[in-house]
Amino acid sequence: MIERDDAEGGSRSDEENDAEDLRSELRSFGRRRGRKLSALQDGLLRDLLPRLALDLKKPAPADATQLFDAPVREVWLEIGFGGGEHLVWQARANADVGLIGCEPFLDGVVKVLTQIDRDGLKTVRLHADDARDVLRWLPDASIARAFVLYPDPWPKRKHLKRRLVNGALLDGLARVMKPGGELRVGTDIADYARTMLMAFQGEPRFRWTAEGPDDWRIRPSDWPQTRYEDKAVREGRRSCYLLFERV
Ligand SMILES: C[S@@+](CC[C@H](N)C(=O)[O-])C[C@H]1O[C@@H](n2cnc3c(N)ncnc32)[C@H](O)[C@@H]1O
Repeated sequence: MIERDDAEGGSRSDEENDAEDLRSELRSFGRRRGRKLSALQDGLLRDLLPRLALDLKKPAPADATQLFDAPVREVWLEIGFGGGEHLVWQARANADVGLIGCEPFLDGVVKVLTQIDRDGLKTVRLHADDARDVLRWLPDASIARAFVLYPDPWPKRKHLKRRLVNGALLDGLARVMKPGGELRVGTDIADYARTMLMAFQGEPRFRWTAEGPDDWRIRPSDWPQTRYEDKAVREGRRSCYLLFERV
């Protein structure tokens, strides 16, 4: 899980990061595998993931609701679902919504696959890799709600440019989100919240909907606490719950 990674100031080598700096899009996540998976978990990755994974080599359907086996009225997107607590909670609570979850950390993907398998969920599709690939692939105005919950903080100064929420991500989200759609962003890192709000301020396609402090200090009831937020609470950090409307 990401808390063991350099995204929080841990173990990725500078050489690895510097090599990646040569790529046009900087890697925004830490390592992709954690502990050794059980045979059951390996089986889920081998057999279930290919059935649920988006095929980005094919063009996306013009109507994104067609991506799901069950009928859905609209499609939501979660970027960086981590252990998947929020993704699975939303899928259980909103049976008529299709959810696309993106997460390159395979241990998290396996957790979600386990729940999907156990509950027989038919309204979740996955991309076990960089969400920005999916943002490029999805049709315009296809997503009614998007979530970016606790993006990796990348606390070292020289890694700040790896932070996922930046102008390029907002461009991608603005294109794929429906007018009137809602974007939810959570963070427990005060300076990240500040730079995000600055990025949104210069972005006419999104409107921060908060009218008073309670609107960003109190977690909405349909936003379950994620594993990463549990950790922030344990370590005494307060979260910001930022809700934006795609104008
Ligand atoms: C700090 S964790 C938070 C996980 C989860 N949202 C939570 O609140 O518990 C950030 C997650 O974002 C994922 N991530 C980072 N960059 C990403 C990207 N470009 N596309 C998809 N996921 C990404 C990481 O792998 C990591 O699991």
